[in-house]
Amino acid sequence: MSVTVRVPAKVNVQLAVGAARPDGFHDLANVFLAVGLYDEVTVTEADELRVTCEGPDAGQVPLDRTNLAARAAQKLAERHGRTPDVHLHIAKDIPVAGGMAGGSADGAGALVACDALWGTGASREELLDICAELGSDVPFSLVGGAALGTGRGERLTPLEVGGTFHWVFALADGGLSTPAVYGEFDRLAQGRDIPEPVASQELLAALAKGDVHALAAALSNDLQPAALSLRPSLADTLAAGRAAGALAGLVSGSGPTTAFLAADAESAAAVAEALRASGTCRAARVAESPATGATVV
Ligand code: C5P
Repeated sequence: MSVTVRVPAKVNVQLAVGAARPDGFHDLANVFLAVGLYDEVTVTEADELRVTCEGPDAGQVPLDRTNLAARAAQKLAERHGRTPDVHLHIAKDIPVAGGMAGGSADGAGALVACDALWGTGASREELLDICAELGSDVPFSLVGGAALGTGRGERLTPLEVGGTFHWVFALADGGLSTPAVYGEFDRLAQGRDIPEPVASQELLAALAKGDVHALAAALSNDLQPAALSLRPSLADTLAAGRAAGALAGLVSGSGPTTAFLAADAESAAAVAEALRASGTCRAARVAESPATGATVV
């Protein structure tokens, strides 16, 4: 028997970052929006825990026990006094180390898949607890839709979304390490007063109304200067997407994927085409939001 779970990628429509905390993490006001690019995690009984991966970026995915899917299976098994002897297969479509929570998606997907395969019957609360132990973005991969993440991003409040938004994602060559981008944020912040991160009311209202122009005007990412500092070429990608008619563009999370909001599906297709032709990215993908969280298929 096997179980397959589909999990979406995310874009941060607002990422407000506070000063570094004593534990090294940063308090956030993190407005997550799930987008329709998906990984699928399939779990099957096996003699021992193993992970395999398919997809264009599969070569960059670690297949050892550091993989978030493997860690999710181990954590659920430990809590329920059983062995995590399963084969986890990841069909990967979310960019790797791209700032779109691809690794987090696999963690949330494996957790839901193992829970279903083993009949563990873990409560939503327990699943969310395990997700938060796995990483700051993993709880959102489980719930999907749109949510405000506070604390280090793991404490979620669901948000209303009043329409469909059309995005273009420009994939960059190679990934960016999330800790390295936060480290660069700290370096750039030295000697400056960092305000408490708060969610933008304009942005939340734009999401609730489904108002794409208001959302475009309110997009923000405090990690963007740090990502651009580590990867200056992203400025060319942002300029190319804006010149092609995107309403706005920003770095997705810690990057290096850049995200462009388009007025409608037709405009998104045109922006994607122009980005591909611009030579400023490896590939361009269109996707709609919001998207549902981890779902057994
Ligand atoms: O929680 P997660 O393991 O995904 O975080 C990866 C790294 O990103 C952390 O080790 C930390 O360097 C950085 N981070 C942070 N503040 C957050 C979330 C992540 O500094 N709120």
